[in-house]
Amino acid sequence: MYKKIACLLPLLCLVMWVAAQKKTIDQKVDSVLRLMTLAEKIGQMNQLSNDFVATGPITKDGDKQDKVRKGMIGSYLNVYGAERTRSLQEIAMQSRLKIPLLFGQDVIHGFRTIFPVPLAEAASWDIAAMEQSARIAAIEASAQGLHWTFAPMVDIGRDPRWGRVMEGAGEDPYLGALVAAARVKGFQGKGLGNTDAMMACVKHFAAYGAAVGGRDYNSVDMSLMHLNQFFLPPYKAASLAGAATFMNSFNDLNGIPATANKYLQRDLLKGQWGFKGFVVSDWGSIGEMIDHGYAKDNYEAAMLAVKAGSDMDMESRSYTNNLEKLVKDKKVDIAVVDDAVKRILRKKFEMGLFDDPYRFSNVEREKQQYSNPEHIKFAREISRKSIVLLKNEQNILPLPKLGKTIAFVGPFVKAISDHNGFWSFDWEDDSTRITTIWDAAGKKGSNKLLYAAGCGITDSSKAGFEEAIAAANQSDIIVFTAGEKRDMSGEAKSRSNIQFPGVQEDLIKALVATGKPVVVLIAAGRPLVFNYTADNAKGILYTWWLGTEAGNAIADVLFGDYNPSGKLPMSFPRTEGQIPIYYNYFNTGRPAKNETDRNYVSAYTDLLNTPKYPFGFGLSYTSFEYGEIVLNKKTISATENLVATITVKNTGAVAGEEVVQLYIRDLVGSVVRPVKELKGFQKIALRAGESKTVSFTVKPDDLKFYNNEVKFILEPGDFKIFIGGNSTAVKEAAFKMQ
Ligand code: NOJ
Repeated sequence: MYKKIACLLPLLCLVMWVAAQKKTIDQKVDSVLRLMTLAEKIGQMNQLSNDFVATGPITKDGDKQDKVRKGMIGSYLNVYGAERTRSLQEIAMQSRLKIPLLFGQDVIHGFRTIFPVPLAEAASWDIAAMEQSARIAAIEASAQGLHWTFAPMVDIGRDPRWGRVMEGAGEDPYLGALVAAARVKGFQGKGLGNTDAMMACVKHFAAYGAAVGGRDYNSVDMSLMHLNQFFLPPYKAASLAGAATFMNSFNDLNGIPATANKYLQRDLLKGQWGFKGFVVSDWGSIGEMIDHGYAKDNYEAAMLAVKAGSDMDMESRSYTNNLEKLVKDKKVDIAVVDDAVKRILRKKFEMGLFDDPYRFSNVEREKQQYSNPEHIKFAREISRKSIVLLKNEQNILPLPKLGKTIAFVGPFVKAISDHNGFWSFDWEDDSTRITTIWDAAGKKGSNKLLYAAGCGITDSSKAGFEEAIAAANQSDIIVFTAGEKRDMSGEAKSRSNIQFPGVQEDLIKALVATGKPVVVLIAAGRPLVFNYTADNAKGILYTWWLGTEAGNAIADVLFGDYNPSGKLPMSFPRTEGQIPIYYNYFNTGRPAKNETDRNYVSAYTDLLNTPKYPFGFGLSYTSFEYGEIVLNKKTISATENLVATITVKNTGAVAGEEVVQLYIRDLVGSVVRPVKELKGFQKIALRAGESKTVSFTVKPDDLKFYNNEVKFILEPGDFKIFIGGNSTAVKEAAFKMQ
C-alpha cells in the first residue's frame, strides 16, 4: 500500500506543480496575500534607502537588516552591485514569507556607461536612439542586481531656472510623449521577466515641472484644461507604453499635494488610463504633507496618501508607523491596503523574483557589462546627435585638422566628472577609461594644440587669465569650454541666475579682445543665458552634459567628423526675466505686431518677447532650403486625414541631417488655442545637393484639444499648418475642417 503511494508521489507532485504553473499571476498574488499579516502587508508598502548613498534627506533608524528579516521592508533604493543586492536578498529569504525585495535606483541617463542627460538626448529628436539608450542603461544596471529605475522623468519643462529640466525632454508635450514611451520601452525591453528588463517609473506625477518661479518643490497651480492639454500627455503615453510604476511628486497641484491627489492617482491614472502597476511616493513626500499644511501629523498623512492611491512610501516611514492603527481605527479600509500590496506583489511576480530572487544579482553578468565596447560606441553616437550648433559665423566650424595653432581654454577641456552631470555614477576607473576633450582633440589631425584652464567653473579668481591670454595670443583659433558644474542643474538646483558661473564670461571677453576667433562650447544641464557669448563668439556648440563619451563626441563635431543635427527641445531665454518661455503660448488679446511694437501690447518695455534661440532650433555645417507646402486637400471632414508635403534640399557642400518639423494652429476655438503646436517631425539625411520630399499625415486626433470641461474635442474651423527647421522658420499653408 505504502509502496503504491510512494510511487504515485512524484506524479502527484508533478500534477500539483503543473496546477501551480497554471495559476495566473493574480491568483498567485492572492494566495500570497492570504498568508500575510497586516504588518507584513504594510512592510511591502515600505521603501527605504540604504545608508551609503543618499538621494534625499536620509533619516537614520534602527537595524534595517533586521526589518528585512521581519518582512517590514518591501523595497530598497540606493543599493546596487551584484554582491550587495544578493546579500540583502538573502536576508529577505530569512523572513517568514520569503517575499523578495525590489531594488530601485535613479538610473536616469546610463549606468556604467553614462549617456547625455535626458534633455540633451531629446535634442537629438532621435526616438529610436533614446529607446536604445534606456535599453543599454537597463542592461548595465540590471546586471548589478537592480530591478527598477526611477525614470523616465517626463515632466514638461518651461522654466530653465528649475534645475530638473535636465532630466526631462523639454517643453513640448508631443515630443515629450514620444520620448516618454520610447524610454519606458527601452528600460523594460522585451518585457518584465527578462533579466535585462528593469521596471520603469514614470515621474513625477504630476506637473512637477511647473513649480512656481522654477523653485524646486514649489507649488503648482493650473487649470485642469491646461494640465491635460500640455502637461499630462507624456505621462499618459508612458502609461500606455506599459510603464510598470509611477512616482508621484513633491508639489501640491491646485492646493492638493500630488501625493494625496485622488484625481491624479485614482481617477486618472488607475481609473481612466487603466494603469495596473503601483505608485511609489517621492522621497518623504507623504510625511511632507505636514509641512504643506495638508495633514496634521503622519497618521493623517498616511491616511490621505494611501486613500488617494500612493501604494508605496519612499522613506517617510508614515505607512510603517501608522497604517496598522489606521486600519484598526477603521480610517483606512483593508481593501485599500490589499489593493496596494497586490499591485506591488504582482510586479515582483512579473519580474520572476518569486521563482528566483537572485536572478538579477549575477557577478559574472555584472563583470561582462562593466566595460562593454558596444555601449561605449553607442554613447559616442548619441552624444554627437545631442550636440546643437547655435552659431557658425563665416563657417568657422568645423575646425581644420591641420596647419593651425588652436588654444583650448576653460574649465571643461580636461574635465571628466563634470561632463557626466547630475544623476550619474562615478566609477573608480573613470580617469583612465574616459577621454577628455583635450585628449580627443589631440587625436584629430596635426594642428598644434595649446592648453590653459584660465579659470575653474565657479572661480572668482582671475589668476589664470594671463596664461590663457598668452596661449590665445599664440593661436589662430581659440576654443573656450564654458558651463555649469555637474551639480548645478538637477534636484534642488534651482537658480535665479542662469548665466555662466564664476568669471567664465570675463575670460571669454578677454579672449575675444585678443582679436582671434573664439568658438565656445557650452556644457550644461539646462538652457543658460549667455548673451555676450551669443553676440561675440564666432561659433557656439551647445554640448550639454554628454557623459562618458563627451570628449570624443565633441571632438568629432568640432573637427567635422560628424555634422551636427541637434535641435533645441526648450526655448532659450534672452534673460531670466522672460521665464517661463515656450513656443506654444496663447496669442493674447493684444499681441505685439512686431518686435519693437510697445503700443499697449503684451510686451516688456525693456525686452523682446522672442527667445534668444527658439524651440526646435539648431544649425548644421550645411544649409537646407524648404519648398512650399502642398496639401492634398484644402478642406477635410472630421474623419479625414490631411496630407502635407514639402521638399527639402541640402543646398550646402556637405551631407547633413535635418529635423523637419510640422506645427499646426487652430485659429478660433471655444477655448483659446496656442499659436503653434508641434504635431509631427521627421529626421532626414541629405547628401550635398540632394532633395527629398517629406510627407506628413495630420489625423483628426491631432486637431483635438481639451476644453474647459476637460473634454477632448474636435471643432470645425480654420487651421494653419507650418513646416520648417525650427518653430519660427516655417513655411505656411491653410486648411479648413468642416
Ligand atoms: C527624489 C527625486 O525627486 C526623485 O526623482 C528620485 O527618484 C528620488 N528622490 C529617489 O532618489
